[in-house]
Amino acid sequence: MSKGSNRSKRTPRSGSISPNVYSAKHGKSGGLAASEHETATLVTITIRPATRRDAAAWLRLRYALWPDASESEHRAEIARFFAGQAREPLAVLLAEDGAGAVLGLAELSIRAGAEGCTSDRVAYLEGWFVVPEARRRGVGRALVAAAEQWGRDRGCTEFGSDTQPDNLVSAAAHRALGFSEVGSVRCFRKALQG
Ligand SMILES: CC(C)(COP(=O)(O)OP(=O)(O)OC[C@H]1O[C@@H](n2cnc3c(N)ncnc32)[C@H](O)[C@@H]1OP(=O)(O)O)[C@@H](O)C(=O)NCCC(=O)NCCS
Repeated sequence: MSKGSNRSKRTPRSGSISPNVYSAKHGKSGGLAASEHETATLVTITIRPATRRDAAAWLRLRYALWPDASESEHRAEIARFFAGQAREPLAVLLAEDGAGAVLGLAELSIRAGAEGCTSDRVAYLEGWFVVPEARRRGVGRALVAAAEQWGRDRGCTEFGSDTQPDNLVSAAAHRALGFSEVGSVRCFRKALQG
């Protein structure tokens, strides 16, 4: 998802999203690379909407995902979201482990159209991030499953996303979760002189 490519339809942020509970593989020692010696255990991951109390955790995840924007820009966007004034995202889902640690996010919108999609209300994965120490354990998968349900609940029949061409991990994860690649876009800009 490329932040800033804002083609989202202005749709009121609505309603409640019920928390979804998933079991995810979780290594006992978070930072270790997977190896034959690592013992994966099943832990419960809850996917739930962000609340005002999550502002600091959301800021950390957002800044890690999009470091090109300043912390104060992220903070302002978060404030707009909780004030109900954000055009995008329309919803923010957080993944939390059993101890209440926030491990990842999915920022969502509904776009009037998206590359390769045919409908005019496309649920869109605007941001997707899992903290490095919790990756490859199903947290990203659980976030996407809950995001898909969010889209279905709003009448969407398609789910769109994008990533930078060189983000091979993201591409692999999208494909593993059932997305098919529908194109790549080059973006251009030209200043219009008065
Ligand atoms: C992309 C991202 C959100 C995936 O989160 P995750 O919690 O690691 O994802 P999951 O563990 O649920 O993985 C789901 C599937 O994606 C694939 N996948 C995930 N990471 C992968 C990797 N490093 N290499 C190859 N495949 C990978 C696997 O098929 C995996 O299933 P498996 O582990 O059962 O084989 C995470 O890597 C991330 O935050 N990356 C940095 C930010 C980013 O690039 N976001 C996407 C921008 S569009």
